[in-house]
Amino acid sequence: MTTFRWRPEARAGHARAGWLDTAHGSVPTPTFMPVGTAGTVKAMTMDSVRATGAGIVLGNTYHLMLRPGAERVRALGGLHRFMDWPGPILTDSGGFQVMSLGPLRKLDQDGVTFRSHIDGSRHRLTPERSTDIQHALDATITMCFDECPALPAAPDVIAKSMRMSMRWAERCRTAFIQRPGYAQYGIIQGGTEPELRAESVRALTGIGFEGYAIGGLAVGEGQELMFATLDATVPLIPDASPRYLMGVGTPDDLLGSVERGVDMFDCVMPTRAGRTARAYTERGTLNLRNARHATDSRPISPHCDCLACSRHSRAYLHHLFRANEILGPMLLTWHNLAYYQRLMRGMRAAIVDGAFAAHADHLRAQWAMDDW
Ligand code: GUN
Ligand code: ZN
Repeated sequence: MTTFRWRPEARAGHARAGWLDTAHGSVPTPTFMPVGTAGTVKAMTMDSVRATGAGIVLGNTYHLMLRPGAERVRALGGLHRFMDWPGPILTDSGGFQVMSLGPLRKLDQDGVTFRSHIDGSRHRLTPERSTDIQHALDATITMCFDECPALPAAPDVIAKSMRMSMRWAERCRTAFIQRPGYAQYGIIQGGTEPELRAESVRALTGIGFEGYAIGGLAVGEGQELMFATLDATVPLIPDASPRYLMGVGTPDDLLGSVERGVDMFDCVMPTRAGRTARAYTERGTLNLRNARHATDSRPISPHCDCLACSRHSRAYLHHLFRANEILGPMLLTWHNLAYYQRLMRGMRAAIVDGAFAAHADHLRAQWAMDDW
C-alpha cells in the first residue's frame, strides 16, 4: 500500500525536484496536469496524453456532477476506469467553476446554489457535498471547496471570503475519507495581501492536509503581483508538502513559479490554444492560421517528438485549420501538451543537474527571440 507523500530529490534555491507518490503511481515533480474537465482532455485520446509525458490529469467536480453525474461514474468503476486513465487524477472542487457562473449562482455561508449551464436545473454544492462527489469519482487528490473572489477586490471583501473558505476547509477535512495513497489539499486564499495569505496558511496547516494549493491567482492581477504573492506565500507552506498553483499558466509563469517553489500546475492554455491554432514553441507562440505558414514545409518545432512535428509540416497544420478540419485541433493540442511536458522535464532535469539558473536564462532568451 502506497502512502501519499512528496519526496524531494534535488533543490535549486526555492525550486524543488521530487516525486509525488500516490495510490495510482508516482509522478515526477514539478509537474503539469493537463485539464480533463469533463472526463476527457479535449481532442486527445488518453494514450496520446500519456505519450506527451503527462503523469497526472485534472478533472472537474462541477462538470462531472452535472453530466454524467457522480453516482453514475461511481457505478461504472470510478473516473480512472470511466476515462481510461489509470494514473493519478486530481479533481477541482467546483467552487471556482461555480463562481464563474455569475447570475446563475447564489452564495451563502453554508455553500452555493446554482443553475446548470447545460439545462438550467437547480443544484447545490457545499463543502460536504463537493467532498462526497470527489470521493464518488475516486479522485486521487481531492480539493477543498472554496470561494475565489475576482480581483481586484477590497481587502475586507477578500478577508471575509478567505475566512469563509477556511471554515469550509475544516468541513471538507471532516467529510474526507482518508485512504492510503489518496490526498486532500487545502486551498490558500487571501488575494494579493501577504497578511491574509499568511493567515490562510496558518488556518490550513492547523487543520492539516496532505498538500497545499495556492488559489485565487491568475485572476487578473498580473504576473508581477502573482510572483510577489508567491514570494510571500510559498515559504510559509511546510517544506515536506506538495505545493500546487491552481490555473497557471504561460510557460513564463511556470518557470517563475517553479523558481519560487511550486511543484504542481494545471491550466487550459495548451489545450485551449491548440484548438484555436496557437502553437507553443521554444521560441514563443505561432498562430498557424497566419498566411506565412501556408507553404512552410518545416515542422512546428524541430525539438518536438509529437505526432504533428514528427509527421507533418506547418503548411499542413495551416491547411487543416483553414479548412476547419477536426485533425487540426487534435494535432495541435498534442503538440502543445508535448511542449508543456518537455518544459517541465527540462526544468526538472536542470534542477537535478545543478544547472537550473543557467537553464532559466536559456529558456527566457529563447522565448524572447519569438518565432524562428
Ligand atoms: N482554479 C484556479 N484558481 C482556483 C481557486 O482559487 N480555487 C479553486 N477551487 N480552483 C481554482
Ligand atoms: Zn510538436
